Amino acid sequence: MKIKIVKVLPKYLKPKPDQSKLGFGKHFTDHMFTMKYKEGEGWYNPVIEPYQLLQLDPTSMCLHYGQEIFEGLKAYRGPKDEIYLFRPMENIRRMNVSAARLCMAQMDETVFFDALKQFVVLEHEWIPREPGSSLYIRPTMIATEPALGVHPSSEYLFFIIAGPVGAYYAHGFGPTKIYVSQEYVRAAPGGTGNIKAAGNYAASLYASRIASDMGYTQVLWLDAKENKYVEEVGTSNIFFVIGDELITPPLGGTILPGVTRDSVLKLAVHLGVKVTERRLAIDEVIEKIENGTLKEAFASGTAAIISPVGQIFFRNREYIINEGRTGALADRLYSEILHIQYGIAEDPFGWRVQIA
Ligand code: COI
Repeated sequence: MKIKIVKVLPKYLKPKPDQSKLGFGKHFTDHMFTMKYKEGEGWYNPVIEPYQLLQLDPTSMCLHYGQEIFEGLKAYRGPKDEIYLFRPMENIRRMNVSAARLCMAQMDETVFFDALKQFVVLEHEWIPREPGSSLYIRPTMIATEPALGVHPSSEYLFFIIAGPVGAYYAHGFGPTKIYVSQEYVRAAPGGTGNIKAAGNYAASLYASRIASDMGYTQVLWLDAKENKYVEEVGTSNIFFVIGDELITPPLGGTILPGVTRDSVLKLAVHLGVKVTERRLAIDEVIEKIENGTLKEAFASGTAAIISPVGQIFFRNREYIINEGRTGALADRLYSEILHIQYGIAEDPFGWRVQIA
């Protein structure tokens, strides 16, 4: 599929933001990729064009029934100005899994990858040089059929936008404080917790606001059935170091199969750490904090990569982990992953994809 390219005239290119103050999700590049889908015709009109507002009919189905999915991945600038993506095929495949679950159109993996590559290469000047910064890429698909009957849309818009980012959290790489929600859940068995559906994030906001009003960074979600087992933290996967073992809940349909989660698991094994995927009750977490065997906790995600957890709030009590400091394994994994992503370290897994 040939992608048409309509470039912004040089005089209209946006000024680049100060790389030391990027934050997350505040600045966007000059262009975007779009492609449309219609039942019976398939995908058509792939184009990289100037970043612009979308024109949508008010009855576009995404606005009413939530058929909207997205992905998040990053492009990194290497020491010799090479450009890398990190495991992009994982995001591409996961987007198709998300699409299938919400009865949305499937995309050809090669077309998706080609769009991603051409778009990022065109926007290469936006990939920041500041250590720890990158270009965050947001592929998104929305249902655009103008109709109000509840059924899978027959039309879709797929777009890719991107913007330079620094640390996800304002405090950068440092311990977060998390709040265990007992009243609200993120995902139930048979639901959509294992896909990147926009609605999952909308449903998480209320509990996140409670946590944030109480001074916590994120919510630690428990399972919906028994309100007992740890599932995820905020928009990330969760890990605990108990004794010398790295433990994370297994993917069981309610947990997002994070690309960083999978990378942490593989890297930890490579580093000789004992890794276990098993259900972990919040009571066990508390007991092991209290008896001193729980040494570290951290979250993993594309945006923050690794976020150490320094405090947990549960049943009106505050529990401190590792004296509120970043643990040695979190620190090690963070720098190992970062070095692979930036082309500084060996990549024994073949995760890095050089696109320029
Ligand atoms: C990630 O870190 O993987 C995310 O999806 C975070 C994003 C929702 C901001």
